[in-house]
Amino acid sequence: MRLLTARFWWWAVLGLLLVCMPTLGTLAPNSAAADVQALVAFGSRVPGTPASEQARTYLIREYRQAGYVTELGTFTYPKFEDLGSTLAVGSVTIKGHALDRSPSGQLSALLVAVPGVGRLDDFMAVEVKGAIAIVRRGEISFSEKVRNAAAVGAVGLVIVNTEPKELLGMLDGEVNIPVLGLSGAQGEPLLKEASTEPLKASLNVNTHLKTVTGQNIIAHLPDVKQPKLLLGAHYDSVPKSPGANDNASGTVVVLELARHLADTPLVHQAWFVAFDGEEDGLQGSKAFVNTAKPHFLSNLQAMLNFDMVGVNDQLFVGGTESLTALAQKADSKISKIRDTGGSDHKPFATAGVPVLFFYRGQDPNYHTPEDTVVDPKLLEATTQIAQSVIQFRFESPTDS
Ligand code: BES
Ligand code: ZN
Repeated sequence: MRLLTARFWWWAVLGLLLVCMPTLGTLAPNSAAADVQALVAFGSRVPGTPASEQARTYLIREYRQAGYVTELGTFTYPKFEDLGSTLAVGSVTIKGHALDRSPSGQLSALLVAVPGVGRLDDFMAVEVKGAIAIVRRGEISFSEKVRNAAAVGAVGLVIVNTEPKELLGMLDGEVNIPVLGLSGAQGEPLLKEASTEPLKASLNVNTHLKTVTGQNIIAHLPDVKQPKLLLGAHYDSVPKSPGANDNASGTVVVLELARHLADTPLVHQAWFVAFDGEEDGLQGSKAFVNTAKPHFLSNLQAMLNFDMVGVNDQLFVGGTESLTALAQKADSKISKIRDTGGSDHKPFATAGVPVLFFYRGQDPNYHTPEDTVVDPKLLEATTQIAQSVIQFRFESPTDS
C-alpha cells in the first residue's frame, strides 16, 4: 500500500512536470510582462502600420478574454512627411531632412552663408535677397531663423547641426520658404566655403501632408454606456522605437486593471481605452474627447492616464488635486509634479474631467530603438496603486 502511494506520487509529479514543461522558461500568459513582450515583438507601433494593426488584434483578444466587448474609435489626421530632400552644390548632392512643417520647394539660387546664428542683424549683414541662406543651429529657435530669413527676402533656408549627426527638427508653425536641415559633418564645410563666396546651389525640399487613420480601442461591459471612470494609455510608439516603456507599459497596466476590476462591482462604472496617435500630438485622446457627447464627459468622475510606468523606481503623479491626494494616500513615496508633460489626460483635463496622470519619467531609452524592456515589478506596483486610488474614490462610503 505504502509502495503504491509512493508510486502514485512519483507519477503524479512526473505528469505535472510534463504538462508544465512547454511553459517553463516562458512567461505566464495573461501577465503584464507577457503582454509587454508581445507588443514589443510587433515592432514600432506607428499609427496606420501593420505593427499597429497587430497590436490592436492582440489587445482586442485580451480584452475579450477578460470578458469585455470592444469597439474601435476611428479618426484621421494630417501628418507631415519628408519624401526626400537634398541640397546640390556643383556635382555634389547632399541628403538632408526637411524640417517638420516646411513647405516643398525646388529652386536654384546662390547659397549665402549667414554669420552668427541667424538673428535679424546676422541676416542684415549679408545680401541674401533671392538667395538660399545657410546658417548654423543654436541659441534661437528654428522658426525664428526662418522668419528672419524670409524677412530679408531669402527664398530658402539651410540649417546646419552643431554636432556631426543629422538634424531633425520641427518648426512651431507654418512658414513660407522651404527649410532643410543638414548634419554638421556635411553642412559645416559647406558653411565655411559659402562664407568665402556665394556658391551656385539647388535646394530640393519634397514634403507633403498624408492622411493617417488612427484607431482607439475601447473596452467595457456591454451595458456600460456612461462610465464614471475611464482608464487610458496610448499604445502607439514613435518610429524605430518598439516602445516598451513608452507606452506598452501603460497600455498593459490598463489591461491588467481591466482584468482585476472584472471581478468587482466597479466594472459596471468603467471604460478602458488604448489610445492611438498620441505621439503625433495626442490625436487619439483629442478625437475621443471631441466626439464624446457632453453628458458622457460630465458623467466622468475620473480619467486615469498611464504613460511610461515601467522604468524608474520613483512614481510621479499629476493632475487634479483631489486625485493626486488619493494617490499619495495609497503610497506616501509617490511624488507630485505640477507640469504633467504631454500625454492623453490633457484633452480630458481641458474638457473639465478630473484627471490623474501616472508616470515614472526619466528613461534613458525614451523614444529610442533601445526602449525594449520594462520592470514587471514596476508595472505591478503601478497597477496596485491605481487600484487603491480607484477603491478610495469609488468605494468609499462618503461617495455619493
Ligand atoms: N510619454 C511621453 C510623454 C512623457 C514624457 C510622459 C516624459 C512622462 C514623462 C509622450 O509619449 C510624448 O513623447 N509626448 C510628447 C508630446 C506629445 C504631444 C507629442 C512630448 O512629451 O514631447
Ligand atoms: Zn508616451
